[in-house]
Amino acid sequence: MAKKREKFGGRLAVILAMAGSAIGLGNIWRFPYMAGEHGGAAFVIVYIFATLLISLPVFLAEVMIGRRSHTNARDAFARLSRQHPFWKAAGYLTILIPTLIASYYSVIGGWSVEYFIKACSLSFLHTPADEISGLFGPFVSSAWTPVVLHLFFMGICVGVVAGGVKSGIEKFSKVSLPVLFVLVVVILAYSVSLPGARQGVQYLLHPDWSELTPRTFAYAMGQSFYSLSLGMGAIITYGSYVSKKENILVTSTGTAVSDLLFAILAGFAIMPAVFAAGIEPGAGPGLIFQSVPYVFARMGATLPVLSSVMAILFFLTIIVAAMTSLISLVEVGVSFLMERKGLTRGRACWVVFAVCGGLGTLCSLSFGPLAGVTVGGMSLFDLLDWICSNILLLVMALLAVAFVGWVLPRRVVRDEFTNGGTVNGRIFPVVLFLIKWVAPVAVLIIFCTNFIL
Ligand code: PFF
Repeated sequence: MAKKREKFGGRLAVILAMAGSAIGLGNIWRFPYMAGEHGGAAFVIVYIFATLLISLPVFLAEVMIGRRSHTNARDAFARLSRQHPFWKAAGYLTILIPTLIASYYSVIGGWSVEYFIKACSLSFLHTPADEISGLFGPFVSSAWTPVVLHLFFMGICVGVVAGGVKSGIEKFSKVSLPVLFVLVVVILAYSVSLPGARQGVQYLLHPDWSELTPRTFAYAMGQSFYSLSLGMGAIITYGSYVSKKENILVTSTGTAVSDLLFAILAGFAIMPAVFAAGIEPGAGPGLIFQSVPYVFARMGATLPVLSSVMAILFFLTIIVAAMTSLISLVEVGVSFLMERKGLTRGRACWVVFAVCGGLGTLCSLSFGPLAGVTVGGMSLFDLLDWICSNILLLVMALLAVAFVGWVLPRRVVRDEFTNGGTVNGRIFPVVLFLIKWVAPVAVLIIFCTNFIL
């Protein structure tokens, strides 16, 4: 009764889908600020090394788990460990984490839709620049609009997933990824041409070697992990749709390079404009929903048409980037419900929509009507983000590398890496060493840094 599983249609499709998962808000609102604040070019160099030596091996480990097990993320560990109780239990984390992240990430997606609508209705032109940043607080703390937009955003992403792996996710990524790169390059060209943009370029590039501290290394590793969607079950799930013939070193490196390139482009698209408007850069929601709209409002005074077009393109970029990431998380739960609970894809999509939509609604309300409900001083939104980013993702990534490095027989890992001996395996010992020793130590260092420094 085994039904044929879907798979991606080739190398490009794999890279685009995985890069779609990787390229998201992490690239746009965290990387540029981190690079600027932690040594500019020096940070970028550390980041590249962290990606190649640590994140890429973890990425490969997750792809191998998915492709070898040929099943959903929850069952992958169980199947490969022959139903070992520990790994069976660990598999549930791969469902819990994407469910939690998808819930609050979709709320931010809803905010982007609101700002996209604002851009289209030329609100940034009609609001005095100094009042623009002040719009954000009342909007997120209002009760209904953010909730409705979150459900709308989640609904569209679930709708794409309902189309299936090939005609939903793959088709969407094939169109949206090239569009994303074109959009960010257009915004970059505009941004660096503004008077005063030089300072922003310098902010990103000045190499400050004194910033090369252990803390910077830990930040670079943590950012690189998040940016490549590691420890979320997404790469394991997408890995399970990769054909046995695909060279996973090539597809994984292609994904990591696209992700890095996009982060750097996003930095040059945003920071020069922020500096040109004479404001301090920041990170997180404040950068996208307060500083950048301020920039558009300022520019709007002299160049109304250009600034309006750029505002529309900017929020479109955010929406598409967040969608491709959210889609990869939705697919984790959907594939689990289809394969383990026997639901049809359509029904599974409804269940994920109900669960993540409901939880996300509570997250959204935690900025307004539920602001008084806190745990350890954190609202539900902050709590989920904190637990996922600082604890769960790292635990999951550690489990993945430990599983491939220490539990799976070396013969199996080698077989996966070399596609049964048909792909050159000369660097296999190096990759295995990184998975077995370097990556676990690095994850432990990030973990400790998050709590100690
Ligand atoms: N790699 C994504 C990013 O950089 O934004 C991380 C991510 C977050 C993926 C949330 C998926 C997601 F829903």
